[in-house]
Amino acid sequence: MGIIGYIKDEMQIIKERDPAIKTPFEVFLYPSFKAIIRYRIAHKLYQKKHYLLARWYSQRTVRKTGIEIHPGATIGKGLFIDHGHGVVIGETAIVGDNVTLYQGVTLGGTGKETGKRHPTIGNNVMISAGAKILGSFSVGENSKIGAGSVVLSEIPPNSTVVGVPGRVVKRDNVKIPREDMDQVHLPDPVYNDLIRLQQENVRLTQELKQVCERLQKIEEKKLNNDNNNEINK
Ligand SMILES: CC(C)(COP(=O)(O)OP(=O)(O)OC[C@H]1O[C@@H](n2cnc3c(N)ncnc32)[C@H](O)[C@@H]1OP(=O)(O)O)[C@@H](O)C(=O)NCCC(=O)NCCS
Repeated sequence: MGIIGYIKDEMQIIKERDPAIKTPFEVFLYPSFKAIIRYRIAHKLYQKKHYLLARWYSQRTVRKTGIEIHPGATIGKGLFIDHGHGVVIGETAIVGDNVTLYQGVTLGGTGKETGKRHPTIGNNVMISAGAKILGSFSVGENSKIGAGSVVLSEIPPNSTVVGVPGRVVKRDNVKIPREDMDQVHLPDPVYNDLIRLQQENVRLTQELKQVCERLQKIEEKKLNNDNNNEINK
């Protein structure tokens, strides 16, 4: 997409998500607009392994906008960062399409992980002012993270999360009663699938063992019959 198309898209995104905008050309004043366009350039430099140049460019962006997006981060289409100051997006973070972030959001690491250290944010997620998402888990698509929350583990899609540590208070727009709420063990679909596959594997192994035993018995019976026939002859 050319620069004109990109600017038109940005104007549309900001008009849709910030009721404060009055004229389309205000888009040029938004730190989000500058930060994302400059991130795309820095990311290209990073991909071509010009790491120092990429970091230098990205750090200049921080001084101009107050938004720090590491050039190694992967950012989808339609990201909007409202106000922007204090936003930090780490090197191995992955941000899906049409994500909205407010000022003071951190997509960071806990300092305990290596390799992929930062979160993966699904499509259409909104992360409110000052929220911190720390670790290499995923935030499911269409979720909302409340202002000031600290999220430390996997969030299923279509959830509203609030508090420190972040807990799911709504799923599919339905409130979860506090007494039913397991704040620690949020559902992990991948883990559940693995457990189901493991159980299935044990069942199939047992069935196969039974079939083999039956087959062996039939073969032994047939051998005995053949021997008896031989003797009778
Ligand atoms: C989380 C948020 C997005 C609301 O989502 P929602 O799905 O409409 O959820 P609700 O408003 O129904 O709130 C659900 C529960 O969470 C609580 N809650 C909402 N936001 C909260 C927050 N930031 N911290 C703690 N609790 C919060 C509500 O009081 C409610 O509790 P209850 O069930 O005991 O009454 C919103 O409250 C929020 O944090 N918005 C901030 C947006 C922002 O950053 N604006 C900055 C503009 S500059």
